[in-house]
Amino acid sequence: MTKPQPMHLPDLAGKTIIITGANGGQGRAEVELLLANGATVIATDLAPEPGKELAATADGLAGVLHYRCLDVASAAGWNELAHWLTAQDNGVHGLVNNAGIPHRARISDIEESDWNRVMAINLTGPMLGIQALSPLMKAGASIVNIGSSAALNAHHTVAYTASKWGLRGLTHCVATQLGPLGIRTNIVHPGYIETPMMAAAPQVMTGAQLALTPLERTGQPEEIAAVVAFLLSEAAAYVCGAEIPVDGGFTSSAGVKYMSDIIAAAAANNHPTEPASV
Ligand SMILES: NC(=O)c1ccc[n+]([C@@H]2O[C@H](COP(=O)([O-])OP(=O)(O)OC[C@H]3O[C@@H](n4cnc5c(N)ncnc54)[C@H](O)[C@@H]3O)[C@@H](O)[C@H]2O)c1
Repeated sequence: MTKPQPMHLPDLAGKTIIITGANGGQGRAEVELLLANGATVIATDLAPEPGKELAATADGLAGVLHYRCLDVASAAGWNELAHWLTAQDNGVHGLVNNAGIPHRARISDIEESDWNRVMAINLTGPMLGIQALSPLMKAGASIVNIGSSAALNAHHTVAYTASKWGLRGLTHCVATQLGPLGIRTNIVHPGYIETPMMAAAPQVMTGAQLALTPLERTGQPEEIAAVVAFLLSEAAAYVCGAEIPVDGGFTSSAGVKYMSDIIAAAAANNHPTEPASV
């Protein structure tokens, strides 16, 4: 697939937007698209310095890139970032809670400490971030949480799945409580996106995923970034509390693609499984 063309969202120019997990696949694509639209991006991640690819992202783009070390599970880290942002005196116009870890254990194997770590990063982290940074936001600001198709079904990774279902609840609560201030909160649910996170997934998963995805391909980080940038922009001024799957139709089809394909194949082989009128 060719790389999607960058979107043009002029109102993002000069806006200050914080992205967590920015050294990763989707985070970096979001940073790049926002910089291309002239935003001031505060890219954050665990490492003390930005990765090489992230550091090079700003080259030739209109926006301004800052990097801050932040463990999203640390309330102290978020408060430190809030103090730094206050000193910049530029306000906060957007927050993308993108950082996340998978941890692929099932219910029979999950250790309590791993469960707690996944919850701390995938669910408590966004809550702490919204708590620390929303007081710096004014009407027109936008919060985007990154969920997962696992938040809409029963993915085998029990802690990850439960954490992302929890993030949906957080999104709806915050949309309700900050909406009256003119601050919008939404959640994006990526399907199978080609990033370092999926490079570590079991190989058999890719084939199974493709068989269940109507578009019959994996997604690119830029395809998530496009929806995130839209939600941050004024083009989405009336979108609040929404859940947007970006998954090639995977969750919409809910596994029915498998059955649909079998029926189509049987019909093609002149072995109809049902009367023609059904
Ligand atoms: N790739 C996919 O197929 C997929 C599918 C559904 C949802 N998602 C979600 O998208 C988001 C981004 O995933 P990705 O695919 O880019 O993953 P990635 O592994 O490429 O990047 C994740 C980033 O988060 C950072 N991170 C991990 N723990 C952190 C912490 N405690 N504090 C701050 N940063 C931390 C990592 O250092 C990394 O840079 C995640 O929330 C993930 O759950 C990804």
